[in-house]
Amino acid sequence: MLDTASNSGPQSEGSSRFVRACLRLPVDRTPVWFLRQAGRYMPEYMAVRKHHSLLEICRTPEIAAEVTITAAERLDVDAAIIFADLLLPFTPMGLDFEFLAGEGPVVHQPVRSLEHVQALRTDRADELAYVAKAIERVAAHFQSPRTDGDRLGIIGFCGAPFTLASYMIEGGSSRTYIETKQLMYSKSAAWSLLMEKLVTVLVAYAKQQVEAGADVIQIFDSWAGALSVADYRQYCLTSTTELVQRIRALGVPVIYFGVDTASLLPAMRETGADVLGLDWRIPLDEGWRAVGPGCAVQGNLDPITLFAPEDILRARVREILDLAAGRAGHIFNLGHGIVPGTPVENVLRVVEWVKQFGVARRPQASREALSEWAVRA
Ligand code: CP3
Repeated sequence: MLDTASNSGPQSEGSSRFVRACLRLPVDRTPVWFLRQAGRYMPEYMAVRKHHSLLEICRTPEIAAEVTITAAERLDVDAAIIFADLLLPFTPMGLDFEFLAGEGPVVHQPVRSLEHVQALRTDRADELAYVAKAIERVAAHFQSPRTDGDRLGIIGFCGAPFTLASYMIEGGSSRTYIETKQLMYSKSAAWSLLMEKLVTVLVAYAKQQVEAGADVIQIFDSWAGALSVADYRQYCLTSTTELVQRIRALGVPVIYFGVDTASLLPAMRETGADVLGLDWRIPLDEGWRAVGPGCAVQGNLDPITLFAPEDILRARVREILDLAAGRAGHIFNLGHGIVPGTPVENVLRVVEWVKQFGVARRPQASREALSEWAVRA
C-alpha cells in the first residue's frame, strides 16, 4: 500500500491545491469543486445538449472536453471532472444501454444469471479511449497555472463495482435493489465473477485516464448506502479495495464517494482510499472522526441548500469550513450532485465564500488542531 503522506504521486502535486489537499498536504486555501458541475442546471451545457444526446457528448472528445472546461471556468473552481458517465464501460462489456428522457439509464437485457455474467467481456476497454482523448484535451488546456498561480486539478472517474452491478442487474435505477441483492445473496459464483470482471475493466479504464493526464480518480459508489455494514463488508469490500489499490498503484490519489454512507464510513476507509466523499447527512467533523485522521474528506453541503436564501446558504458554507477547522485534507464540495434548476448564481456565491472563508490557518495552528483532534478521535 502506498504511503499517502510521502507519495510523490502525480507530477502536478506541488502546484495544484486540489491535489495537495487530496494528499493532506498544506494548502493556501480550501479547494472547491462540485459534483455534477457540468449539468442541466447550466445554460452553457443545455445549449450543447440541444444539438447532441448525452452519449454523443460523452463519445466525442472535442465536445466532452469543451463541456468540462466551460463548467470549470464558468465556476472558477479548483478542479475539472471529465464529462463522461458511469455506465460507459457497459458497452465494451457487451451490455447495451440508453438514457431515456425522464427515466435515466435503461439496460435492455439486465444481467440475472451466471451465464449472463460469463458472457460479459473484459478485453475491450480500449473502446473507451474516447474518454482518455477528452482528458488529454482538458489537460492540455489547463496545463499552465491560472492567475492565482494554481494549476487546476483534473479528475477522471469510474463507478464502483456495487453501484455498476446494481445498474446491470436492475436494468436501471432502483429504490429497493431487490434483483441486485437477490443475485448477491443467492448466486455467489455469479456475484464474485461480476465483481472480478468489473474490477478488471475499471482498472484498465482508469489507467487510460491517468495516462491521459487525470491527476486524481474519483470512484462513485453512489448507491452503496443501500447496503448494511455487514453486507457491504461481505459482498463489496474486497473487490472495491482491490479497485482502489490498483488505481492508487498507477500513482494517483483516489477519492471514494457514496451517498447515505454514514454507517459505512469506517468500512469504506478500509479500502485505503486517500479521500472519502461525505454526503450531507453527517456533520463533517463527525464523518471525519469516523474515517480517522489518516484520510482526507470531501464534502458536504446539501445540494438543495443551493435553493435556500443567501443568508442560510452562507451560514451552511461557513459551518462546513468551521467543522473542517483548517485541518489539512478538506476539499469543499456538495454531499451529492447539483440538481437541474439550481440557480447558477448561488453556485458562484458558494465558490466566492469558500475562497473567502477557507483561507489557510497558520501551519502551526493546523498541526495543533490535528493532534488535538487525533486525541479526540
Ligand atoms: O460535471 C459532472 O459531474 C458531469 C459528468 C457526469 C455525468 N454522470 C453526466 C451526466 C458524472 C460524474 C456522472 C456520474 C454518474 N452517472 C453517476 C454518479 C454520480 C451520482 O450522481 O451519484 C451516476 C449514478 C450516473 C448514472 C446516471 N447518468 C443517471 C442515474 C442519470 C440520470 C439521472 C439524471 O440526473 O437525469 C444519468 C444522466 C446524466 N449523466 C446526466 C449528466 C449531465 C443528465 C442527463 C442529461 O444531460 O441528459
